Amino acid sequence: MYIADDERLRKRSDLLVQLLGAEADRSLRILEVGCNAGRNLKHLFDNGFHQIEAIEISENAVALFRERFPEVASQVKIHVSPVEEIVRTFADNSFDVVFTMAVLEHIHTDSAWIFDELARIAKTTLITIEDEKGISWRHFPRNYREIFEPCGLVQVHEIQCEDAVHGLGNQFFARVFKKG
Ligand SMILES: C[S@@+](CC[C@H](N)C(=O)[O-])C[C@H]1O[C@@H](n2cnc3c(N)ncnc32)[C@H](O)[C@@H]1O
Repeated sequence: MYIADDERLRKRSDLLVQLLGAEADRSLRILEVGCNAGRNLKHLFDNGFHQIEAIEISENAVALFRERFPEVASQVKIHVSPVEEIVRTFADNSFDVVFTMAVLEHIHTDSAWIFDELARIAKTTLITIEDEKGISWRHFPRNYREIFEPCGLVQVHEIQCEDAVHGLGNQFFARVFKKG
């Protein structure tokens, strides 16, 4: 089925909000790793989640976020940095929820140590929505259950994505992990 790009992107951000849960506490402290131009941040904000921070390596993407969604950008703390250079500066359990969407798949094997760090800074929940199958010079396929359970997290939910439903193809898996 053909899905227009805007609709596909909205479905992706909808999936994230669904995984957080309709009843989720709106005061949750949430970190997105790799926010690009802030589509997920805007969607979270519009759904009542306002305690948001993000890490993004691309200054251009962050500039676009500030241009497109100035009201949201003014209230979201953005760390313009490679995750590798900043993740160790966060204290244990700094965020109730840490999430990634189409970002860890680009993390080189040399930087795989950040996975332990993401588990360390997530207080209760880690959500990964990642292409776990694609292989290219910039795609590093991994099963994130096998990555994060040895870091002390427990997977509580898994979805193999469907383009028509989630705006992401079936190489993507959405996983929710809990700590403690
Ligand atoms: C495919 S985009 C996904 C963006 C967003 N999560 C979404 O779903 O729309 C991947 C983003 O991760 C960022 N990124 C890739 N490697 C990164 C790193 N090492 N540190 C921080 N951001 C990174 C890229 O600049 C890009 O904005």
